[in-house]
Amino acid sequence: MEFFEVIRRRSIRRFQNKEVPEELIEKILEAAFYSPSSKNRRPWHFVVVKDRGLIKKLAETRPAVRFLETAPLAIVVCGDERISNAWVYDCSIAAEHIQLAATALGLGACWGHIHERMHDDEKTAEDYVRELLGIPKHIRILCIIGIGYPAEEKPEHRKDEIMWERVHLNKFGNRVEQEGRDLLGG
Ligand SMILES: Cc1cc2nc3c(=O)[nH]c(=O)nc-3n(C[C@H](O)[C@H](O)[C@H](O)COP(=O)(O)O)c2cc1C
Repeated sequence: MEFFEVIRRRSIRRFQNKEVPEELIEKILEAAFYSPSSKNRRPWHFVVVKDRGLIKKLAETRPAVRFLETAPLAIVVCGDERISNAWVYDCSIAAEHIQLAATALGLGACWGHIHERMHDDEKTAEDYVRELLGIPKHIRILCIIGIGYPAEEKPEHRKDEIMWERVHLNKFGNRVEQEGRDLLGG
């Protein structure tokens, strides 16, 4: 799959009841470790969850991640805050690498957000996941990417979604022509 096809991906939240082969999981992790990171500190930890019982429990972290229920694979994207105070940015990029790699491999994926969200009135989503998976305190949890063979179809992103009014030429407020012709000098 060519880059500009992959990048038109959509979030997939329903998955077939079919395991993701080991080789594909390895490719996805390879992509994650190619991510750029602040000062090249590489603070990431990835918890690869294949145990269906644990995935069901992860799906109960908060309503927005209930979609994980049907995922055969969940990758919990974490960062060591002792290694980098930019762990949120570094982990966000790694999470997107994971989603793009999954798409390129014919899989579907969706980001389930954990950081700065609540499980219930008392417990943070992060602490709920931390306790479930035995993640130490200094390892911060950004999100859980649910991955699997898609059981839903969605229209891919289209070029007309480009918000040209949000593109500024040289100085903020200088509009560019539709289709960006000004920018390209056409
Ligand atoms: C920081 C971030 C947090 C997100 N959190 C969730 C989430 O908790 N649950 C969910 O179903 N989707 C979540 N998403 C996916 C977005 O809803 C999705 O990317 C957006 O609606 C655009 O749709 P698309 O991915 O199909 O282009 C999140 C995405 C990002 C980037």
